[in-house]
Amino acid sequence: MEIFKNRNVLVTGGSGGIGREICRTMAHAGANILIFSRNEEKGKRVVDELRNDGRKAEFFQTDIGDSESINFSVSRVREQIGSIDVLINNAAISGFMGPVTTTPVEELQSVLNVNLVGAFQLARDFLPGMINNKFGRIINISSVASRVNPVNSATYNISKAGLDALTKSLSREAASYGITVNSIAPGLILTDRIVNSRLPGLAEKSGNSEEDILRAITCQSDTQKLTTETEIAELVLFLCSNGAGNITGEVINLSGGY
Ligand SMILES: NC(=O)c1ccc[n+]([C@@H]2O[C@H](COP(=O)([O-])OP(=O)(O)OC[C@H]3O[C@@H](n4cnc5c(N)ncnc54)[C@H](OP(=O)(O)O)[C@@H]3O)[C@@H](O)[C@H]2O)c1
Repeated sequence: MEIFKNRNVLVTGGSGGIGREICRTMAHAGANILIFSRNEEKGKRVVDELRNDGRKAEFFQTDIGDSESINFSVSRVREQIGSIDVLINNAAISGFMGPVTTTPVEELQSVLNVNLVGAFQLARDFLPGMINNKFGRIINISSVASRVNPVNSATYNISKAGLDALTKSLSREAASYGITVNSIAPGLILTDRIVNSRLPGLAEKSGNSEEDILRAITCQSDTQKLTTETEIAELVLFLCSNGAGNITGEVINLSGGY
């Protein structure tokens, strides 16, 4: 059933990993998908996939860590599409891995720019249109890291804790206009970022093998299972539905009880 027909859904980092799965699921429910990410080839590949399936999708090359780049894409969206109904702040980077004492301050700033400031700017830019339409959904893809604070990941942990504070602050401002704002906090999902950067980084810093780290992380959850991209996308779909209209300001863990 196409419950999101004619709804405009913007997904940052929709070109890969969790974001790509969110795009597929929302498009399947009838939404028009807008992707903001950096790599044109990757972004257009997802757009082509969705269009070949009869869906509507557009790619806007954007660096979420650069406010000028966001400004440019936001003005293109306003000209070409108008307002958006759903904003999914999903793009993020892992950032510097190591103890705080060896973390350059610039590393914190660059992670915050992508994982937090970009999300703030997009919410600030698109919330007035949602208020005007008396409908909107903002979903920030956070992480269990904001709560459990894994070692050697302070910049990432801090960025996600800030994102959860943004969720709560925005939800209070927007609730009376029919707009909900929530965070989803996934546990580990084997996306490209994890396989290519985070797992090798954790292995290098701890001296343990990637297999041992994966096993240990899996055992931390009550379900003894890793989270999947599909589970996140299905939760996004529900939070965007009318049935979830009274859920706001929440940080919803999707991490098997961890
Ligand atoms: N995977 C996990 O285990 C896990 C767990 C908890 C939370 N999360 C959260 O889930 C979200 C998605 O993570 P993922 O694992 O799917 O990551 P991913 O596979 O690396 O995908 C991230 C996407 O974000 C885009 N991106 C990165 N930096 C960007 C920038 N500066 N500007 C615009 N786009 C940018 C990338 O596209 P381009 O390279 O083309 O820009 C990519 O498509 C993140 O917020 C992450 O923190 C993931």
